[in-house]
Amino acid sequence: MTARPILLDCDTGIDDALAILDFTARGGEVLAVGSVHGNVPAPIGARNTLRVLEIAGAEDVPVCVGAARPLAQPLLTAEHVHGQDGLGNTNQPSPRRPVGEGSAAEQIVRLAHARPGEFTLVAIGPLTNLALALLLDPELARLIPEVIIMGGAVGVAGNVSPTAEANIWHDPEAAQLVIEADWKVTLVTLDATMQALLTPTDLEAIQGATGERARFAWAILDHYLTVYQQWLPGRTCPLHDPLALALVLDPDLATYRTLPTQVELRGLATRGATVCDLRTDPASPSPEPGWRMVRYLDQLDVERFRALFVAGITAG
Ligand code: BDR
Ligand code: CA
Repeated sequence: MTARPILLDCDTGIDDALAILDFTARGGEVLAVGSVHGNVPAPIGARNTLRVLEIAGAEDVPVCVGAARPLAQPLLTAEHVHGQDGLGNTNQPSPRRPVGEGSAAEQIVRLAHARPGEFTLVAIGPLTNLALALLLDPELARLIPEVIIMGGAVGVAGNVSPTAEANIWHDPEAAQLVIEADWKVTLVTLDATMQALLTPTDLEAIQGATGERARFAWAILDHYLTVYQQWLPGRTCPLHDPLALALVLDPDLATYRTLPTQVELRGLATRGATVCDLRTDPASPSPEPGWRMVRYLDQLDVERFRALFVAGITAG
């Protein structure tokens, strides 16, 4: 089965960049991209995305700037993880083309009406643009069959608080709006992405490859690997965003389970947590308002995912 094209929402970001490079190298089709605050401010995310699309040979893909801040909390960015420029302080040249007209949320609405049912919406940053698009057009969810999101943590620790993963934590209200909408949502959580760690052999393969994609990947990885040395043993890093995009191309990299879910909006220590009702039979959603059935990865074929990723990054 051929994968549907995607509309991508991202906060590029080192692992966002790696995700775009791998997805495009392996034949994935990107219709358009929106940037959002998160790893860096949204205009920088858009600029980085344009640069990455140049490396990927996808200069025809439009990029719109999205939300400058979350719906209900101040802007907080993560340059300490992704570098001051969001691309590991690699001092990239300015992109050759400008961003598109209109906002990322408007772009989602426009494309959903132009191509109803035809694309998968993939979010690898905070969910503000998706929430704004839902607020702009109450019919939106009917036009988009599937939404894949890198975000959340269920049975593992968060990465910005004891319980919250960054993409949800950056805008919990937006995340809850997106989960509550009437479309099929898959959350690719830290439970899965923290299993998907690059090995020394993978890193050697990327370092040794001579294509432009691999050279760019190697340059931005250096910073990411150094940052992750604080948290992980050895020189490695998780492939959060690449896993979400890889699942568009190969959904059978994982098995899935569906759980009643809502985002914690009020907890003092738990704001931004993805709370799952693990008590219930997955076939019978909790009746209370706010809970929605969300799909999660159950078993992930980590070896196959890593092999595909390395093949993508080192191709060409
Ligand atoms: C997510 O947060 C960002 O730092 C990464 O780009 C990824 O989307 C991981 O929690
Ligand atoms: Ca991201």
